[in-house]
Amino acid sequence: MAGERIAFVPTMGNLHGGHVSLVQAARERAQRVVVSVFVNPLQFGPNEDYAAYPRTPDEDRKLLEALKVDVLFMPEVDEMYPRGQALTARVHVPELEDILCGAFRPGHFMGVATIVTKLLNLVQPDVALFGEKDFQQLMIIRRAAEDLCMPVEIVGLPTTREPDGLAMSSRNRYLTPEQRAVAPQIFAALERARRAIESGRRDFAEIEREGMGMLEAAGFRPDYFSVRDANTLAPPSDESEELVVLTAARIGRARLIDNVRAKRPR
Ligand code: PAF
Repeated sequence: MAGERIAFVPTMGNLHGGHVSLVQAARERAQRVVVSVFVNPLQFGPNEDYAAYPRTPDEDRKLLEALKVDVLFMPEVDEMYPRGQALTARVHVPELEDILCGAFRPGHFMGVATIVTKLLNLVQPDVALFGEKDFQQLMIIRRAAEDLCMPVEIVGLPTTREPDGLAMSSRNRYLTPEQRAVAPQIFAALERARRAIESGRRDFAEIEREGMGMLEAAGFRPDYFSVRDANTLAPPSDESEELVVLTAARIGRARLIDNVRAKRPR
């Protein structure tokens, strides 16, 4: 393996089409592909779905074998946190970790940044790949890698969607058939906001209210629906050209997230 490039795809398992796209993109970027499957308890809050999170190790293993992944890393919790979660050193990314999803899931992004740092240190890849569905997560990982001088390229890949627009996610499993039928309204609401921005509207607060209203009318309990600068995640300034519209919305047992990019016309 000496001299060969290594690409790494960290996952929490229950693999779907989005993960397959990441593995295929990894294969194009390196001679060796490493995938980890680890449901990381540190990134779940006390009342969240850590225990219920779908675990399908046998199916995951078979799929990764079929994709000809070179190394599958499936550690146990006490291997990753030998001193226990409470005592482990932590990675924080100030500000970014507290906004949007971070405001509703305190500690979540610390858990993500910590485990990703540990996995990158263990695997030592040249490149690591993440889905853009978790846009805030991707930005936090990029920031941690840059600030902590990690010698790795962080690559984000476009969200993989079902034919009706729903972003692929392991948490889609929580949806009943009725909830699944309305779930594409998340992407529809984001797309409506994107079109409004790209047609020249500047009233972002009103666009956000319309998005919240559309989701509520479809039966969701949205945590937020927000227009942000795609490079900083701050509210858009007059200079912001690349925007992103992000949302997190609850329905039944599921909390779904999604986002779309929008280019502001000049
Ligand atoms: O996106 C995920 O599946 C997880 O947050 C990650 C990056 C594997 C860290 O546990």
